[in-house]
Amino acid sequence: MQIAIIGASGYTGGDLIRLLLTHPKAEVTVATSRKLAGKPVVSDQPHLKGLTDLVFTNPDVDTLDADLAFLAVPHTAAMQYAGKLLQRGIRVVDLSADYRLPKDVYEKTYGVTHTDYFEMPYGLCELHRKEVRGAKAVSNPGCFPTGATLAAAPLAKHAKAVVFDSKTGVSGAGNTASATTHYPSVADNVGAYKWTTHRHLAEMKMELARLGSKAPCYFTPHLVPVNRGILTTAHILLDGTMEQEEVERMYRKFYEKEFFVRYQAPTLAGVRGSNFCDLSVEVREGRAVVVSAIDNLVKGASGQAIQNMNLMCGFDEKDGLRGAGVLP
Ligand SMILES: NC(=O)c1ccc[n+]([C@@H]2O[C@H](COP(=O)([O-])OP(=O)(O)OC[C@H]3O[C@@H](n4cnc5c(N)ncnc54)[C@H](OP(=O)(O)O)[C@@H]3O)[C@@H](O)[C@H]2O)c1
Repeated sequence: MQIAIIGASGYTGGDLIRLLLTHPKAEVTVATSRKLAGKPVVSDQPHLKGLTDLVFTNPDVDTLDADLAFLAVPHTAAMQYAGKLLQRGIRVVDLSADYRLPKDVYEKTYGVTHTDYFEMPYGLCELHRKEVRGAKAVSNPGCFPTGATLAAAPLAKHAKAVVFDSKTGVSGAGNTASATTHYPSVADNVGAYKWTTHRHLAEMKMELARLGSKAPCYFTPHLVPVNRGILTTAHILLDGTMEQEEVERMYRKFYEKEFFVRYQAPTLAGVRGSNFCDLSVEVREGRAVVVSAIDNLVKGASGQAIQNMNLMCGFDEKDGLRGAGVLP
């Protein structure tokens, strides 16, 4: 399979190239960057030196040749490419927010008009495998909603209220420098942002509702001084009496067939660079506290995008994704 990565000079694009180096059935043949067109990929991503000869090209979706394209571009850019690629018979996995939500919810949440809306399955593989399998286009979930939804899913129907408190690494903001991501702002520091208004809340609500939850859902993210990773603490107020043993059994059963979700104490380092989501639960006084850890660039973006590609194309879901976390 020939793969195009639109937005290959970004953080998620770079991780797509890195992970696909070990994929047995897919090879990246097109890597786009408008700013770096004509330059070797390794000039921007020196950790790939000796592993790829790719040269950045312009994102000309009317002429590029590939079987499948990953859209690793900002929201509103993806909608300019997805439909055109599909018309040319090129499958699409969109890493942006453009196709994750119903049109009206997307436009309200992101404050923009969608100029080429159509439905794509929501590619949280563990929950939507059936819809993703064989699909021509899939919308890859947001990083926070991936860790949060996996943490809450087994208890969604038993929740009276759900509060997600997440700590994220700085690569979640992409590779464009800003005052917020400037080293002295981030290093030796922790702060909350968008306390009640983060756009990913809409995805979390959508997924909890699909899981049969009627509970109100809240979300506050925090920026912590690490490069990769999202640790989410989900506080789930239970609508009945449930004890530790029963809830733990529910979690183990819910994920028993899932290779990428492991029931164990989560840490960011334990999943760093890998497609795993580690989680575990503790129950006391009517509240379940579930903590999950993912790498925002892998299970939260590029790894899950490859997992989606594998399902779309009938490959082994683990192809290209068997790497362990990097501990310590
Ligand atoms: N970072 C994360 O943890 C994460 C997690 C989940 C999802 N996502 C989503 O994944 C997407 C990419 O994120 P990122 O963090 O990799 O961003 P990034 O580091 O800022 O990279 C963006 C890439 O898109 C290209 N690009 C920007 N505007 C474009 C346009 N109009 N047409 C074509 N290419 C364009 C850029 O290269 P040129 O400007 O040189 O073309 C660059 O290669 C975003 O939608 C983001 O929300 C990110």
